[in-house]
Amino acid sequence: MAQLASARRVVVTGLGLVTPLGVGVRSTWSRLVQGESGLVSLHSAPPSGVTRANQLVGDQHPVLQHFPQYDTLPSTVAGLVPYGPYSQGRFDPAEWLQRGDTRKMALCTQYAMAAAEQALVDADWKPTNAADRLRTGVCIGSGMGSLEDILQNHTAYQQRGHRKVSPMFIPKTLINMAAGHVSMRYGFQGPNHAASTACTTGAHSIGDATRFIQFGDADVMVAGATEASVHPLALAGFARAQSLSTGFNDRPTEASRPFDDHRDGFVIGEGSGVVVLEELAHAKARNATIYAEVKGYGLSADAHHITAPPEDGQGAALAMHRALSAAQVSPNQVDYVNAHATSTPQGDVAENRAIKAVFHGSMSPLLAISSTKGAIGHLLGAAGAVEAIFTIMALHTKTLPPTLNCHSSSDPNSEFTLNYIPQESQRREEIRAALCNSFGFGGTNASLCFLPPQ
Ligand SMILES: *[C@@H]1O[C@H](CO)[C@@H](O)[C@H](O)[C@H]1NC(C)=O
Ligand SMILES: *[C@@H]1O[C@H](CO)[C@@H](O)[C@H](O)[C@H]1NC(C)=O
Ligand SMILES: *[C@@H]1O[C@H](CO)[C@@H](O)[C@H](O)[C@H]1NC(C)=O
Repeated sequence: MAQLASARRVVVTGLGLVTPLGVGVRSTWSRLVQGESGLVSLHSAPPSGVTRANQLVGDQHPVLQHFPQYDTLPSTVAGLVPYGPYSQGRFDPAEWLQRGDTRKMALCTQYAMAAAEQALVDADWKPTNAADRLRTGVCIGSGMGSLEDILQNHTAYQQRGHRKVSPMFIPKTLINMAAGHVSMRYGFQGPNHAASTACTTGAHSIGDATRFIQFGDADVMVAGATEASVHPLALAGFARAQSLSTGFNDRPTEASRPFDDHRDGFVIGEGSGVVVLEELAHAKARNATIYAEVKGYGLSADAHHITAPPEDGQGAALAMHRALSAAQVSPNQVDYVNAHATSTPQGDVAENRAIKAVFHGSMSPLLAISSTKGAIGHLLGAAGAVEAIFTIMALHTKTLPPTLNCHSSSDPNSEFTLNYIPQESQRREEIRAALCNSFGFGGTNASLCFLPPQ
């Protein structure tokens, strides 16, 4: 399979981001490498010293309409997309959508539209002829979809009957609608696909899209994922599954602390990441800017438990092994791993063990690992796509983004003995290869291997 797949090479030629650190790759990336945090308090009356969420993200943010409903939840921290003009790195739906779109598009679809537009402008790929549009596809997934639309229509139905359910309800809440709307906006008639594999969605979208190009289904794919489920019901559910950080509600920017001794769960976030993937010769023929090559993609299942990883991280290790073997890259050529590490007590240990197992006896002396979730929280389905873009930007700028709130362990027997890029980003002369990991509930694991263009 690896041999067959290697016949057509796939490169990244456009990037688009909507994250808690901002809208636009440049604004998000510069804040990320400077060690800034996008996490805010959801409490309507945050403790003294903590700025109110609406002062940070803007009053138009739709999450703020539920403000008091967050107060009694065990976790009141989240990564919210800042609202305002794009010129300030903020999100204003009017700048990305056409009239009437907000009625038709769930919030997660709106974020994907903005990320896709950025990626297509960046790639300079807005084909107007039929042949190019036939050879361009879309692969954008989501983990959760739109809880708020489901809830509201359920309430309307219960209280006043089926005629009160909106005709837009189904088309607005289907998971594949971001992919559908992007294809309609630009006339892309290649494959149209949407993975929904919990927190591995973004990695699967980019990996599967890469294969569509490798297998000749398309020459260009718009690929990524989106999520907008910072919602009281989602927070209640993740809190009941004991997944969320609850001990840092009074210090939101410190709540997500991957690989740190005091980590106590993940912080929910929202946003979207979309890339333009392109067959190498196609990209070269039109002089496109090539950010990186998608060299390997590995998938596996833990086959273990609905939410917990096996302690040895075996499923994660398998995904990394498979990505490296597909890429024909040996472990000691990997200089950077963008870890999935969500800041949960168990998950970070399992991934750390998996990394150690994969690189055991063949580790680059410069190998560094970071989890950018320290700065933006866990974007669930969108995490893998956003973090793939961070990994690509690390290769492109030769700068490794930090793990915020990660301090060296006070436990002399700590297993966290690698370089986790604590607090501050690190510069490199060269990054030969990078891995980006994503793991999801249900035990699904994926890893992507990126190389600088060559
Ligand atoms: C129902 O769903 C539609 C479309 O998703 C949404 O616009 C509307 O606000 C929802 N609520 C009610 C009460 O219909
Ligand atoms: C690409 O760049 C080369 C060298 O600069 C030039 O000769 C060629 O015409 C360009 N092709 C396109 C499609 O712009
Ligand atoms: C693989 O996926 C599972 C899903 O339950 C995830 O929790 C786990 O972290 C991943 N595996 C490892 C060992 O990290």
